[in-house]
Amino acid sequence: MCGIVGCVGAADVSRVLLSGLGKLEYRGYDSAGIAVVCDGAVDIRKSSGRLARLLAACERDGYPQGGAGIGHTRWATHGAPTDANSHPHASGDGRFAVVHNGIIENWAELRRELEAEGCRFESETDTEVIAHLVERAYEGDLLKAVMKAALRLRGSYAAAVVCADEPGRIVAVREASPLIVGIGAGENYFASDVTALVERTRSCLYLDDGEFADIRPDSVSVFDAAGRERAKEVVRVRWDVRAAEKGGYRHFMLKEIMEQPGAVEATIAPRIAAGRVCFDDEGLDDGAFCGVTRVVIAACGSSYYAGQGVRSAFERLTGVPTSVELASELRYGSTLVNASTLVIAVSQSGETADTVAALRECVCRGARTLAVVNVAGSTVARLADHAVHTWAGPEVAVATTKGYTTQLSVLYLIAVRMARALRCIGTQEEARLVRQIAALPRAIQQAIDLNPCVSELAVRYKSCPSLLFMGRGVDWAVALEGALKMKEISYIHAEAYAAGELKHGTIALVEEGQPVIALCCDERLAAKVAGNILEVKARGANVLAVACLDNQDVVALADDLLLIPPVPPMLSAAVSVVPLQLLAYHVARERGCDIDKPRNLAKSVTVE
Ligand code: F6R
Repeated sequence: MCGIVGCVGAADVSRVLLSGLGKLEYRGYDSAGIAVVCDGAVDIRKSSGRLARLLAACERDGYPQGGAGIGHTRWATHGAPTDANSHPHASGDGRFAVVHNGIIENWAELRRELEAEGCRFESETDTEVIAHLVERAYEGDLLKAVMKAALRLRGSYAAAVVCADEPGRIVAVREASPLIVGIGAGENYFASDVTALVERTRSCLYLDDGEFADIRPDSVSVFDAAGRERAKEVVRVRWDVRAAEKGGYRHFMLKEIMEQPGAVEATIAPRIAAGRVCFDDEGLDDGAFCGVTRVVIAACGSSYYAGQGVRSAFERLTGVPTSVELASELRYGSTLVNASTLVIAVSQSGETADTVAALRECVCRGARTLAVVNVAGSTVARLADHAVHTWAGPEVAVATTKGYTTQLSVLYLIAVRMARALRCIGTQEEARLVRQIAALPRAIQQAIDLNPCVSELAVRYKSCPSLLFMGRGVDWAVALEGALKMKEISYIHAEAYAAGELKHGTIALVEEGQPVIALCCDERLAAKVAGNILEVKARGANVLAVACLDNQDVVALADDLLLIPPVPPMLSAAVSVVPLQLLAYHVARERGCDIDKPRNLAKSVTVE
């Protein structure tokens, strides 16, 4: 999705902007641009394609010099990824430039109105209307002009505007799209994502919907739509700059796979004390769970699959019916949610539009809410009654890996904490579960050690037109995540299904040479999965099994094996997913794919 960044007061604003845009590349984009206010004019450089093209243009034509600037990476929605449609967009008189994330829903109506008044549009974007509206509203004060223009906008927007007449000032506004202001010394910033800021500052403030930031070199003031100044808390960002660098790895994805033992350890260790689960820092005590009669886990994509992976842990440990809902369905659907429902919104970014909307809907219906997020201060974190962070650090590769495993591990802990609150487990049982969860980082490392073996196997899969994944119970949830990883980065068609469903249709796809990846990490279901393996093998399938070391039923049948250490089935997703992440990675590498930035995908899906 689009990324925005801005800086005022720095000695070399253009380079700050370009470096910030570099940090936002991972979000997915197809054009980029910057605008800098210099010598009473706004100098804009933009181009379709990768940031490298924009950098080359700046090298050729010179970097714009000036005191305030805004930058953008665009993921095309309204109009093709052309130079003209790239942001920033200028007003008709060229004195204002705007960058924008989100979608202006009433842009067509506004454009018709502005064209009727004589405005000439240079692009097909929804964003350009903002530049023309600000120009028309301007009476010598940029903040007032942006406030007036915003009254006309419907939709989602994080937008920022610079003006040729006010060289030391940026005005930014947020409505349903993230916007963070970075506080520096004699220079201040904004961005859609903290990753773009941490190189310059760790002190940030998060705008809420309907707020405007007046950003100058020595001050940042935040106002509501009525012009009242708002006091904002400055939050210290914990992320390490180096965490968002490749550190010698060829791809961020591989680095992030390798970081999983540390990320899971960092996530669980602070929540374990003397054999008990403790979420005191998050205010998650018995009261948060008592009286809960239903748990609804709401999420999208891999976060949804993490929810699937922990559903049985919640039901087994707490005895409370638990469902996992796609946020995009939940927001418009009829899922029963009321004051005795605990809704757990799971989102790595904390900004996924559907998850935010589903959570808002559940808040309106009176549910108790809990956020599991990786980004402190994100919208999901701020909307929920309680926020529990995963401490994965920045995840740069579009395909999530450590985001997913840290979500699983913290959700296991929440299930245990809830079970204790509901008196479903005693002290000894809690201590036993805690020991098992604390052992996950080591087991994940052992799964990572399969890397050379997976890399060899991947050569065989690189030309397959399609892959089938199957499993039962938690293994099915992992099969879904494994298939998603494979398709999103290698572009090979992959389908996951519950192994018991095989005979109800999918087996029709199996013919000589069809690769089937069978997940069998639950000993209790091993004989059943072994039966499914025999069925597909009888029809010519080639089976790669991901199994626990002691699962002999399956070990004897598979053509290829990836053995993970024994893990309690309820917790196995966090370990058995690792070989599948590695397989997707190596297959994609063999196929020469753009692993960290797969086509058409965005890291943070901030539009519906
Ligand atoms: C897949 C992936 C996506 C995200 C999904 C939700 O590798 O990363 O499927 O899981 O877009 O994102 P978050 O967790 O940020 O809400």
